[in-house]
Amino acid sequence: MNAPISPASPASPADTLRTALAGLLDGLPPKQATQAVDRLIANYRGRTPTDAPILRDRADVAAYAAYRMPATFEAVRSALDALADAAPEGWAPGSHVDVGGGTGAATWAVASTWAGERPVTVLDWAEPALALGRELAGAEPRLKAARWQRSRIGASLAIESTDLVTVSYVLGELTEADRASVVEAAADAAAQAVVIIEPGTPDGYTRIMEARERLIAAGFRIAAPCPHSAACPIEPGTDWCHFSARVSRSSLHRQVKGGSLAYEDEKFSYVAAVRFDPVPPSARVVRRPQIRKGQVLLDLCGAEEELRRETVTKRHGPLYRAARDADWGDAWPPPSAE
Ligand SMILES: C[S@@+](CC[C@H](N)C(=O)[O-])C[C@H]1O[C@@H](n2cnc3c(N)ncnc32)[C@H](O)[C@@H]1O
Repeated sequence: MNAPISPASPASPADTLRTALAGLLDGLPPKQATQAVDRLIANYRGRTPTDAPILRDRADVAAYAAYRMPATFEAVRSALDALADAAPEGWAPGSHVDVGGGTGAATWAVASTWAGERPVTVLDWAEPALALGRELAGAEPRLKAARWQRSRIGASLAIESTDLVTVSYVLGELTEADRASVVEAAADAAAQAVVIIEPGTPDGYTRIMEARERLIAAGFRIAAPCPHSAACPIEPGTDWCHFSARVSRSSLHRQVKGGSLAYEDEKFSYVAAVRFDPVPPSARVVRRPQIRKGQVLLDLCGAEEELRRETVTKRHGPLYRAARDADWGDAWPPPSAE
């Protein structure tokens, strides 16, 4: 990764965000917080696309931020890590526009992936989401100057020119025509990279595949997760490419979902497309590795545009140790073992 920020740093954006989100529900009776989340989940279920924002007021956006933002933040951060790994040494975006950015999860993920300051603009049609995003960003010096602008995704959407455009968990809320518009506008605006993230469901993956095709047609190359820019080797309808990010559960999560698990796994699909020459890995681990006695089974998507299973055994020495450490979504083999 380029210019990484140590996750152990006490002032890392991830820590600052966690603290800011915890403060959000201070003073809100637990029952009220739970009700706001229930309403949010009900509103999202089966009612999108809508012709008016779902996030209508402060209670909606506070519930969204406290309940969903930690997960969307981790998913975006994983996608950006993979982009950083496939970018030339030292590359970092000089500016960022987050479309349908809501409370700004992707802006925090960018700040946590690349050091340094950059102009940041967040576009969304929900004013309460922008207002809360601005408030949260006040806690992170590098996001304080971000611009939060009301903007509706549609045929007339124009995005200012920027290095990086992110579109995180938005396509699923749009009509087919608006999905095409936002991807085309992102491609027009991005001088360097477009990163699109969706839930890790069959539908989310299908939307990512459509976006991927549009980005390739617009002259982009795929930096991640695919090790190539050719067609996806998954036969439509048989499987879907997705990954998993671990998210610490907040007390609100435990309240709403019950149980005492300290974490949950957010499943997501994504594509990172670039205008420069990417250095994608020779293969990527596309399922959770299966560790057996003396061997590790890795399901891989390879640069030769094929899916394959590799069995790495003790006889492979250092590669076996690397396989035991390999995670779903990692590049394979790891650079240190190549
Ligand atoms: C699920 S939220 C994702 C928010 C944020 N990107 C994240 O990853 O946490 C979807 C966002 O898309 C915005 N959105 C949906 N349809 C839109 C439209 N037509 N124009 C602008 N924003 C839209 C919503 O207001 C909301 O903030």
